[in-house]
Amino acid sequence: MNYKNILSKTENGITTITINRPKKLNALNKETIEELHDAFSHAEDDKNTKVIVLTGSGEKAFVAGADISEFAHFNVAEGQQLAAQGQGLLFDLVENLSTPVIAAVNGFALGGGLELAMACHFRIASTNAKMGLPEVSLGVIPGYGGTQRLPQLVGKGRAMEMIMTAGMIGANQALSYGLVNHVKSQEELLSCCYDIAKGIMRNSSVAIGKAIKSVNANFKDGKNGFKVEIKQFGNCFGTADFKEGTTAFLEKRKADFPGK
Ligand code: COA
Repeated sequence: MNYKNILSKTENGITTITINRPKKLNALNKETIEELHDAFSHAEDDKNTKVIVLTGSGEKAFVAGADISEFAHFNVAEGQQLAAQGQGLLFDLVENLSTPVIAAVNGFALGGGLELAMACHFRIASTNAKMGLPEVSLGVIPGYGGTQRLPQLVGKGRAMEMIMTAGMIGANQALSYGLVNHVKSQEELLSCCYDIAKGIMRNSSVAIGKAIKSVNANFKDGKNGFKVEIKQFGNCFGTADFKEGTTAFLEKRKADFPGK
């Protein structure tokens, strides 16, 4: 697929996906969501990709939300379809990837932008980042999982306040809420993500995929996370990575994981 709205490059095990509509503050239109679906799916299947970093182009925005111009005239059925398709194609897809996904939040992350950052496995923000779910100021509510993932990450009361006021919080407040893990200058943001990615890549990618599945199970209705953990833990014992990891420890050498 040729991309018009995103860039994707893979170097040293890290695939960086950049949403590239800076004149529209990287707002998520339908085409961009489809391209992101394609890029994330390819990265997940690519043996050379061990970690994915998602960011926005330009100095102003990660993503300033869903593209308002595309849905302003929608009716009830179209609104429901917009949310369902977006969640399926992109937001749920990202959350459930077995490849770790880090959001490098380099500016505004509003509405669908914050929802996309929250679907990633964790977030690092630049000092100028501003985050919020402003949907009620448009007469709508978050539709890409924001009402579910924001309370999971910051607690119900803070999420209720952010959603009801439609306000924005800065990077340091997001850090104190646990919404982002670190705050860096804009210049250092990507290198911080890459340093963390390198640390992740030293470990078993197979085990990491199973850990993501187990952690996510805690947040899914009808799933018993402890049971999922037991199953995934057991499955690790059948992997080449487990044999290599334990053998290397006993032989007092660094593990060289085959990723199988
Ligand atoms: N959808 C569509 N276009 C958007 C957009 C969005 N979510 N966010 C920004 N843009 C566009 C603007 O319309 C403008 O386009 P134009 O130059 O063709 O007029 C361009 O991006 C630049 O935005 P602008 O508003 O001029 O920048 P600003 O610095 O004055 O304000 C924001 C920045 C983020 C505060 C403001 O753009 C904004 O409030 N955006 C909408 C945020 C939102 O409600 N998101 C949730 C959507 S559900």
